[in-house]
Amino acid sequence: MKIDVLTLFPSMFDGFLNESIIKRAIEKKQVEINIINFRDYSKLNNKMVDDTIYGGGPGMLLRCEPIFECIDDINKDNDAYIVLLTPEGNKFNQAKAKKYSKIKHLIIICGHYEGFDERIKTLADEEVSIGDFVLTGGEIPSMAIMDATIRLIDGVINKESLESESFEDNLLDYPVYTKPRVYRGMEVPPVLVSGDHKKIDKWREEKRIEKTKNKRPDLME
Ligand code: ADE
Repeated sequence: MKIDVLTLFPSMFDGFLNESIIKRAIEKKQVEINIINFRDYSKLNNKMVDDTIYGGGPGMLLRCEPIFECIDDINKDNDAYIVLLTPEGNKFNQAKAKKYSKIKHLIIICGHYEGFDERIKTLADEEVSIGDFVLTGGEIPSMAIMDATIRLIDGVINKESLESESFEDNLLDYPVYTKPRVYRGMEVPPVLVSGDHKKIDKWREEKRIEKTKNKRPDLME
């Protein structure tokens, strides 16, 4: 899978690309990530990328040309799925992460400042938000989306770990414990050390349902 991220702040991605599972997935060529500073595509003196708003209003908007020129350059085959990050977009979730993990070429556009010229939206297959709050830009949302997506690419994480995790079958994950068996008076549920795997599976399924009913009843509707 190839992911191109359009941003004005490439160095924000340094830590993200160089740690843990994402770093390993890049090294193993399971994903290629290109962080592209679309300022490089500005044709104006001083590489300006934003401007004042027609009709008046506070702040500055991202101009069309740097982003359109950049997309023309990186999507020559016209085969990419283009996501524009904005708090007004469709809510990102596990189902979207799964869908994106099967895409060959994903382009993510990070907005910034007050917003962007409305015409930039015509480039996007989808506008996406990570939640009902306003961040200073799309960089953090893009990292959240890439993280959730890349871990679902075949081979990045072992299949077993993915099978029972939260949001599979619209249920949260079951509770898990490690040693010691008793800590500060809190005991590991005895069924888990019974060695009876039928009972353990049944307990885990019940706990998934109970936990989802309590914490996220909306998932079960
Ligand atoms: N840009 C600013 N806030 C955002 C959000 N909540 N989701 C996606 N992109 C954003």
